Amino acid sequence: MEPRGLFITVEGGEGVGKTTNMQFLEDHLREAGVDMVVTREPGGTTLGEDVRELLLKPREEAMAADAELLLVFAARAQHLAQLVEPALARGQWVLCDRFTDATYAYQGGGRQLPMSTIRELEQLVQGDLRPDYTLLLDCPVDVGMSRASARGELDRFEQEQAEFFQRVRDTYLQLARESSGRYHVVDASRSLEDVESQLETVCTELLACWGVRHP
Ligand SMILES: Nc1ncnc2c1ncn2[C@@H]1O[C@H](COP(=O)(O)OP(=O)(O)O)[C@@H](O)[C@H]1O
Ligand SMILES: [Mg+2]
Repeated sequence: MEPRGLFITVEGGEGVGKTTNMQFLEDHLREAGVDMVVTREPGGTTLGEDVRELLLKPREEAMAADAELLLVFAARAQHLAQLVEPALARGQWVLCDRFTDATYAYQGGGRQLPMSTIRELEQLVQGDLRPDYTLLLDCPVDVGMSRASARGELDRFEQEQAEFFQRVRDTYLQLARESSGRYHVVDASRSLEDVESQLETVCTELLACWGVRHP
């Protein structure tokens, strides 16, 4: 039987360069012969993408924080069952743009929901499944926000205030400190070229880790 694939997540606030750098990682890893599924959260399935739209669409009435939290986990449950778990079981790698750390950062840090509630839902929806490796793209909030604003119209999260994003960033950095074995923090305030060279190191580490499991 194939060994289980590696589950890699890319995290960070708005405009840090997650989507841009996912492409670089994908190209690099595929070139090295990795069989990989590339996906995102919320989303990754048709149901998940529908939920994503519900979550991101700016709306007149405030969405209750618990409603937001449950929608995020509903999309995740579908994503895991339909796409992530089967791929990992087949031995494919899964590269995912955001995962549960984003829930800790946005709904826990940003919305200030209890981390213990998120942990309970994480356990319920994921069982023992956790990412093997998490890349955190980190940069000051104002740098990320100016990149995100230049991208066009702001979604429901991007319309939040600077304090919200500061809590998001602080929570991510806290998670990276608590799970330093799984996390790799990249300075995303640097030029794209510089970030890419940091990511080359990441790819080398990942391929070495895979080599150990899959000689
Ligand atoms: N290191 C960088 N330096 C300058 N601009 C960047 C950098 N990384 C990404 N960008 C630009 O910032 C914008 C947001 O990047 P994106 O990948 O969409 O961020 P995210 O997915 O994290 O929200 C894009 O226009 C992208 O080209
Ligand atoms: Mg993105």
